[in-house]
Amino acid sequence: MKRIAVFASGSGTNLQTLLGWFPHKDPRAEITLVISNKQDAYALERARQAGVEAVYIPWKKNGREDFERQAQSLMQDRQIDLVVLAGFMRISSDPFVEFWRGRIINIHPSLLPDFPGLHPQQQALDAGVTQSGCTVHFVDAVLDGGDMILQKAVPVLEDDTADALAARIQPAEHEAYPQAVRLWLSGLAFPVPNLEEGTQEFGPGFADVLKSWEAQGLDVAQRQHAVRVARLLKTWDKPELVFAGLHLSADPVVALARSADDLRLGFMTLEPLQDRKNRWEARGRLLERAEALGLKEAFEAALHETALEWDRTTF
Ligand code: GAR
Repeated sequence: MKRIAVFASGSGTNLQTLLGWFPHKDPRAEITLVISNKQDAYALERARQAGVEAVYIPWKKNGREDFERQAQSLMQDRQIDLVVLAGFMRISSDPFVEFWRGRIINIHPSLLPDFPGLHPQQQALDAGVTQSGCTVHFVDAVLDGGDMILQKAVPVLEDDTADALAARIQPAEHEAYPQAVRLWLSGLAFPVPNLEEGTQEFGPGFADVLKSWEAQGLDVAQRQHAVRVARLLKTWDKPELVFAGLHLSADPVVALARSADDLRLGFMTLEPLQDRKNRWEARGRLLERAEALGLKEAFEAALHETALEWDRTTF
């Protein structure tokens, strides 16, 4: 079971949602530890009520180093696997973020890259957009800038106030955050590998992959898709196609892997339920294609978790 630490500075409604999910609705993970830089944060109270260790670590003036040292020591001791920032209103240091690369995520109440930083709801109103929402993303050295995991949109109404918009975004956050954690637990969410990581995983040809992604202008989601496809092809015992996967080539087996990935990812992040149902029912055609390519079992295995998810879905 994976062990999650949640950092929160405020009321902790996102924490509450996560406490309801892990391990009760998804036993692959538990919330092991909650840390706050505010002694009176209601998030700490929520943790205690759920029987979860709740620790206040003061963030004194210029005290980031102290805070992070204490947090690191606690997390190491509790063998934390994933750090979830849920309304944590402090900026982490580069070494801290680097240490947790791929294992630290944040939620932000706007559709990033729009409106990072403070008062994103007011920023959205000032910009006159008709749609806003929330983004779950990996944390890196750029404020609200790490690779995206998923977003949920909500409408902005004409007479909206920042508070009204925040209240509309909140339920979207409560939907998005557990989904993002579950994608991470399934290995479907990760930061795009850098040159070093990609070379280690796929070999020296990865440098060319990065160049070609750049030349084609692939966005983060498309790059993550290419990596998931390449990994699928490995598990399908098609090592000779892994680079074709990374290049998202038109090879029929690569195309099948792409469809499998679209299906499982879309299924796990899509709302409303009817869209999921349609997506799931549409897999019949893909199964036929998989069978023709001798990959029926591999294809079904790729969708195994999605299928479990569907079985557990109640109408
Ligand atoms: C959430 O809306 C979260 O997106 C935001 O703080 C709120 C915390 O609410 N985080 C940020 O703005 C980070 N830049 P909660 O305490 O009820 O979960």
